[in-house]
Amino acid sequence: MEKFCIIGYPVSHSASPKIYNEYFKRINYDGFYGMEEIAPENFENRIDHIFEHYDGFNVTIPHKERVIPHLKMIEEGARIVGAINCVVSKNRRGYNTDWMGFVRSFPKTDWNGIIVLGAGGTARAVIYGLRKIGVSRITLLNRTYTKALSLKKWADSFGMEITAKPLDTLKQVLKYGKILINTTSVGMRGEKFDLSMKDLENLNLIYDVIYFKTPLQEMGKAMGIKVVDGKEMLYNQAVENLKIWDVPLVESLFREIFNDVMGKMRS
Ligand code: ATR
Repeated sequence: MEKFCIIGYPVSHSASPKIYNEYFKRINYDGFYGMEEIAPENFENRIDHIFEHYDGFNVTIPHKERVIPHLKMIEEGARIVGAINCVVSKNRRGYNTDWMGFVRSFPKTDWNGIIVLGAGGTARAVIYGLRKIGVSRITLLNRTYTKALSLKKWADSFGMEITAKPLDTLKQVLKYGKILINTTSVGMRGEKFDLSMKDLENLNLIYDVIYFKTPLQEMGKAMGIKVVDGKEMLYNQAVENLKIWDVPLVESLFREIFNDVMGKMRS
């Protein structure tokens, strides 16, 4: 049997075991996907056990960076983003399927005028993904301006030119932008950006990494703007995990199970 799991702290809320186990069952794949909650202070003691007992695993907060020294091969994007979320135990290979999932889910359209909100780990995966598909210039806004500036410096190293601005300039920046990508947690608990419909008038696309409905998504939809939510990034990173682990991929079935499980989690 092929064994996989997710490691993190906490992990009990993760939908991954339900999704993968149901999928394995439906395709008659002899596999199991479990959960390993590892508190930060136990990480060094537990990580070798994970490599020994599982064929592959996903890594989530707060271990995405700490797993790096335990790997022998790191995919280029994961190295640049500085975070691992998918591991193959054999040969200790590490990947970042967040950027891959973003690329797979980002609509193929005119990519001029991209505004990215946020400067955390998700922003790094998104910005690297954008560079991979050929975007070479974006505007980045963050509440903590210094973090936007450090991302600008980081992105320089792989040929992405960032115009960094504080988040409170969003209304002005939206006058020229065409695509708004939110990588912050704003909206997860119903929080709102200080925006009205008029401010979004110029946009063709809103890509919000949050899985569930947010005020930004709702406003975009009400205006007839194309809205892609975080479920797409999550789904597509999960597809990339299956490919990396060599699990047979029946996309229509995997999509159906993913939608089913995620749909039951929250409205
Ligand atoms: P992740 O790995 O998911 O990107 P993170 O590294 O903690 O998480 O980054 C969270 C991002 O959301 C940051 O850009 C953060 O802004 P700061 O750098 O100023 O902290 C942003 N964020 C979180 N809560 C926010 C809020 N209430 N308003 C604006 N930005 C917020």
